Amino acid sequence: MIELSHVSHSFRTPAGGTVRAVDDVSLQIAQGEIFGIIGRSGAGKSTLVRTLNLLTRPEQGQIRVDGRNLFDLDEDALLRARRQIGMIFQHFNLLASRTVYGNVALPLELVGLSPKVIASEVNNLLALVGLADEAERYPHQLSGGQKQRVGIARALANNPKVLLSDEATSALDPETTRAILDLLKRINRELGLTIVLITHEMQVVKQICDRVAVMDAGRIIETGRVLDVFRSPQTDLTRTLIGDVIAHELPPTVLDRVRRRIASRTDGAAPERLLRLSFAGDDVDRPLLSDAVKRFGVDFNILHGQIDEIQGQAFASLTLLARASEEAIRGTLDLLRGHDVRIEELNHVL
Ligand SMILES: Nc1ncnc2c1ncn2[C@@H]1O[C@H](COP(=O)(O)OP(=O)(O)OP(=O)(O)O)[C@@H](O)[C@H]1O
Ligand SMILES: [Mg+2]
Repeated sequence: MIELSHVSHSFRTPAGGTVRAVDDVSLQIAQGEIFGIIGRSGAGKSTLVRTLNLLTRPEQGQIRVDGRNLFDLDEDALLRARRQIGMIFQHFNLLASRTVYGNVALPLELVGLSPKVIASEVNNLLALVGLADEAERYPHQLSGGQKQRVGIARALANNPKVLLSDEATSALDPETTRAILDLLKRINRELGLTIVLITHEMQVVKQICDRVAVMDAGRIIETGRVLDVFRSPQTDLTRTLIGDVIAHELPPTVLDRVRRRIASRTDGAAPERLLRLSFAGDDVDRPLLSDAVKRFGVDFNILHGQIDEIQGQAFASLTLLARASEEAIRGTLDLLRGHDVRIEELNHVL
């Protein structure tokens, strides 16, 4: 649905230098996908997403949306292509002087539809986003979540194929964020809309994205299915971002306790191994650890962990101390690996 190849764009800085906001980005986003782009402030996310409808014309690269190369289009054709791409924003960008109805009607008025058609479309859209009873209110009379619902209804007015969301939930509290993300997910499913969602929060990615790209200093440094990225992040930045959602690092107090316990160990005791295991899908439900206890006589002490759901799949991360003979440990690790459990040995942090 969306294909970027080697897109780059720079800005002049007030000091007279240049900043490469987007640096050689290539991406493919499939029809019907919810694709997240995550990165820190200044990473180039907004600049990148604005190239997708040529609100920013990149200096280099190609952009295809729905089979068309945007650079090949004349002004009229580009205008039509842009109508296929709706956009929502962090600060909603509603017109204060228009009612909810008037804001959603605006894009339909601009394409010259009759008032009757507009009324029926707007009423459908307001029902879709749960604002059927708020049509005559003004933006200042709405909560942040309601304003974003108006923004979503307006973005959907021209029946777009793609929705771009630039930090659409960043100004909202966690509960409202969840409700707005649920709405986006429902729209994605019911209308088959492709959504490109920019955020700096991994929690948002975790909740609704199918795939994610991690952006840093203008470049995409990692891309993958969300579950895979959570299971095996490839870069330090990704690990840090995931750390906000999944407790990855052992708390210092726990680490201290483990160190003391190992230091006080009497000679001849079996060696202790600090392991982090990550399970996904059906393996979360299998009694693998108790199997290992029974078969190999391993002694486990669970130190830290979390079980969660990502993209409808269970996901668990457990840090534990295993005590057993080398042979029993080897058998245990083989058993776990045989069930696609990822294992990291963490003895180096002790
Ligand atoms: N219109 C502009 N003129 C000059 N520099 C710009 C302009 N827009 C963006 N930049 C610079 O380009 C870089 C990328 O900015 P961008 O807004 O794309 O980042 P972002 O990832 O969206 O950040 P945030 O999370 O804060 O929204 C930054 O260094 C920014 O200062
Ligand atoms: Mg931005």
